[in-house]
Amino acid sequence: MTRAPLPDFYDDLDATFAELWRLLAEGAAQGRSGFHLPALATLGPDGPRLRTVVLREADAESGTLRFHCDRRSDKAAEILANPACALAAYDEASKIQIRIEGRATLHTDDAVAEAAWAGSRAMSRVCYGADPAPGTALPAGGAYTLPDENAAASLGRPHFAAVRVRAARLDFLYLDRRGHRRAAWTRGQGDWTGGWIAP
Ligand SMILES: Cc1cc2nc3c(=O)[nH]c(=O)nc-3n(C[C@H](O)[C@H](O)[C@H](O)COP(=O)(O)O)c2cc1C
Repeated sequence: MTRAPLPDFYDDLDATFAELWRLLAEGAAQGRSGFHLPALATLGPDGPRLRTVVLREADAESGTLRFHCDRRSDKAAEILANPACALAAYDEASKIQIRIEGRATLHTDDAVAEAAWAGSRAMSRVCYGADPAPGTALPAGGAYTLPDENAAASLGRPHFAAVRVRAARLDFLYLDRRGHRRAAWTRGQGDWTGGWIAP
């Protein structure tokens, strides 16, 4: 029986680390990647909160990720109250799960926010002009308004936030019948250190 060759990163820890960041960067760029839509966990007043976000950037150099949200949303308030957060995603095509734990910073009026807003599409800006704010109780399902794309440029910006997550712990799991491979890395202020762990 012929089997697909093992991936290049199999049993190569440095190559696995590089693959992790390559996949995240690809996930930010490509909608079909399983890493495009990670689940984001934050800490709410009563326990963990979880939701899907669009991964916008993953930078191996700084070890950071970026997503966008409405600054009026629960997740924005939760991050401001406690920046500890986690992201997890699974890509079925590569059979890889990546988990990221770190600290988030909310950017609303600085260069990070400006660059993120400038780089976002008119279509994506519309939701930041939603009235009332996300999470508000409505008398009927459709009792909210969105601006048109032109108005969103000014109405959406005050509510827009870019969130950067500085990863502090990474966990990589590759599923293969010939033997799963799992590795994890941590960092404090300095470089990443990591190793294989039992899957
Ligand atoms: C496919 C998909 C992508 C989403 N992307 C984002 C996103 O990038 N940013 C965001 O704030 N919410 C995004 N959402 C909505 C959130 O999952 C969530 O429902 C909403 O933001 C309210 O979350 P909160 O109350 O925890 O703040 C997305 C939802 C789906 C289904």
